[in-house]
Amino acid sequence: MPRHLTSLDDLNPDELSAVLRTAADLKQKHQAGERAGLLPGRVLTQLFEKPSLRTRNSFEAAMVHLGGSGIFLTMKEAGLDGRESLSDVARVLSSYSDVITMRTFSQDLIEQFAGHSRCPVINALSDERHPCQAMTDLMTIQECAGTLRGIHLVFVGDGNNVARSLAQAAAMTGLKFTLAVPPGFELPEAFLDSLRQRYPDCCLRQTPDPKEAVATADFVYTDVWASMGQESEAEQRRRAFSGYQVSESLMRAAPPEARFMHDLPAKRGLEVTDAVMDGPQSIVFQQAENRMHLARGLLAWLLTQ
Ligand code: CP
Ligand code: NVA
Repeated sequence: MPRHLTSLDDLNPDELSAVLRTAADLKQKHQAGERAGLLPGRVLTQLFEKPSLRTRNSFEAAMVHLGGSGIFLTMKEAGLDGRESLSDVARVLSSYSDVITMRTFSQDLIEQFAGHSRCPVINALSDERHPCQAMTDLMTIQECAGTLRGIHLVFVGDGNNVARSLAQAAAMTGLKFTLAVPPGFELPEAFLDSLRQRYPDCCLRQTPDPKEAVATADFVYTDVWASMGQESEAEQRRRAFSGYQVSESLMRAAPPEARFMHDLPAKRGLEVTDAVMDGPQSIVFQQAENRMHLARGLLAWLLTQ
C-alpha cells in the first residue's frame, strides 16, 4: 500500500517533525547553492479541480529541483468529467507517476482516488483540508520563533479548510491555537474534541472576540472570507466578517512583536488591509516561498523512505 497524505491524520507527530526537519535542511542547502538531486527521473502528476498559484507551481519547482519533472492535468483533461470512472483514472495515472497531488472540492474524492492509486497521493487542498499549507506555516513559525511549543497562533476569520488543518497541526506540535470567528462560522466542536482526545496537552480555543484573542498572539493569521466555491456567499460573508478585518488597529491590540500571516491569495481591503499586508510585521511572502521548501521536504521524505 502506498503512503498517502490525504490529511494530517496520515502523519504522527514524529513523522510531521521529520518532514519539517527535512524541509528546513533542504532549504538551507538550496540557499547555499546545493540542489540535492534526491529524486532523479521521478514523475509528479498534479490533478487540480480549482485554480492555484502557490501549490501547483511550488510542487512543480520542488520536483524539478530534486531531479524529477511534473505533469499537470485538470479534472476534464483527466477524464473525470464523466468520461471515465475515478478508479480507472486513478489506476492508469498512478502507473505513470511516482506521486500525485490533488486539489478538489470534495475531501472524499481525494480519499477515494488514493484508495485506487498505486503511488502516494497528497492533498493539495480540498474544501475541508489544506495540510501542505499548515505544514508550511509550522515551518515558517519555527523559523521566526525558533520553536513551536507554547507559541500562540491566532487565526482571525472563517473556520475553513486552512483553519482546520492549522488547528490539527497546532495540536500535533504543542502550538497554542485560537480561532477568532463570528458565530455560525466556527470549526465543528466535535472536530476540536477529537483532537483534544488524541493530543491531551493541546490548547485549542474558539472565541467571537478578535481583540481579546490577539492580545496574547505571537502570530496573527487570516484567510479569505469566501473560499473557492463560496463565491455566491461573498456578499453575505462580507457582512458577517466585517468586524474581523486584520487592520492596523487590530494589530495594535496584539503585542508589538507579533507577526502577520496569510496563506494567500488575499483579498486586500477585505480580510486584511494593505498596510498590514505590506507592513513590517508581515511574513506572508516568507510563507509563500516556504511552500516550495516544504514541498521539497515532503516529496523527499515521502519518496525516499
Ligand atoms: N495558499 C495556496 O494554497 O495558494 P494557491 O491557491 O495559489 O495554491
Ligand atoms: N480557504 C481558501 C484557501 C486558498 C489557498 C480557499 O479554499 O479558497
